[in-house]
Amino acid sequence: MPRFLITGGAGYIGSHMVRLLLDRGAQVVVFDDLSTGHRDLVAKGATLVRGSLSDPAALKDLFAAHGAFDAVFHFAARSLVGESVARPLAYWRDNLGGTLALVSAMVEAGVDRLIFSSTAAVYGVPETVPIPEGAPAAPINPYGETKRAIETMLKAAHRAHGLRSVSLRYFNAAGAHESGRIGEWHEPETHLIPNVLKAALGEAPAIRIFGTDYDTPDGTAVRDYVHVMDLVEAHALALAHLDAHDGAHVFNLGCAKGFSVREVIRAAETVVGRPIPVEEAPRRPGDPPVLVADSSRARELLGWRPTRSELERIIADAWAWHRQEAQSA
Ligand SMILES: NC(=O)c1ccc[n+]([C@@H]2O[C@H](COP(=O)([O-])OP(=O)(O)OC[C@H]3O[C@@H](n4cnc5c(N)ncnc54)[C@H](O)[C@@H]3O)[C@@H](O)[C@H]2O)c1
Repeated sequence: MPRFLITGGAGYIGSHMVRLLLDRGAQVVVFDDLSTGHRDLVAKGATLVRGSLSDPAALKDLFAAHGAFDAVFHFAARSLVGESVARPLAYWRDNLGGTLALVSAMVEAGVDRLIFSSTAAVYGVPETVPIPEGAPAAPINPYGETKRAIETMLKAAHRAHGLRSVSLRYFNAAGAHESGRIGEWHEPETHLIPNVLKAALGEAPAIRIFGTDYDTPDGTAVRDYVHVMDLVEAHALALAHLDAHDGAHVFNLGCAKGFSVREVIRAAETVVGRPIPVEEAPRRPGDPPVLVADSSRARELLGWRPTRSELERIIADAWAWHRQEAQSA
């Protein structure tokens, strides 16, 4: 039975990875400091070890107690762009420093396969859309800078120590597990789809549209949404890829199709069956007008086929989760 370490497994995307791996018969250890994650998102079959990657003693104990992992899926990070501008040193310490400590522990323990959560934020404001992996990595905030630095570090760890890795540059993760038992749970929530659904539930007075004067068909920003279960499936495929392909690889994960903020709100109104109040607001600094992935490499080389990422399906699954949460609150 394979044994995996999942850092950040109590968070949104990591908890879906935990479910997928348990469903496939693996043993799963979650390492999470619960700074933005939630104990309730961790499936019962997994072992939760509470600790921070920035705490050397906690990491040492983790590898001493559970160290013979077949691979590590590394989701744990700080990931709020605005906070990264206000508190860059916390991002360098926890994202780069935490990953450095993790990779060092892996090398010491002889664990040689890592799947890393990177981000479209490494591209900054792209020159070409859809964005291929070969586009310049020119992040415009400390969050993206720390992720780019980690990718560079993983290349060095491969050259010097033979650590195989895949950095997956996610575009916008959205949706929820089909059971409705786990889903997107960020506090504060900065992502569009959960905020649209919170407005639909009356938990917020309206959904704020940041920027209505972009050079896009309806003036609002365009993003590429991927269902979280399609996203975590790509991680399993990335791990299989490492069996046959030594190296430190990079893949985009997006659906190569963009939706504007207004299109997302319209699709959500169809799913929830009622109008959702909207408030127009100025652009947020650093928000690129369009972010859409060229994901042909993941499709060709990993064999990735997103099957749940139609916009209405993503929103319907997210809606089931948010409604259930609102009822149990
Ligand atoms: N959600 C998206 O659309 C998106 C897009 C691009 C990239 N990403 C990346 O994917 C990963 C997961 O994102 P998410 O939306 O699930 O975030 P999340 O905040 O829900 O999950 C992160 C988890 O990591 C834990 N954590 C944070 N710092 C830690 C530390 N130092 N030590 C131990 N645990 C720690 C948190 O408690 C949380 O459970 C992150 O690396 C993020 O940068 C997410």
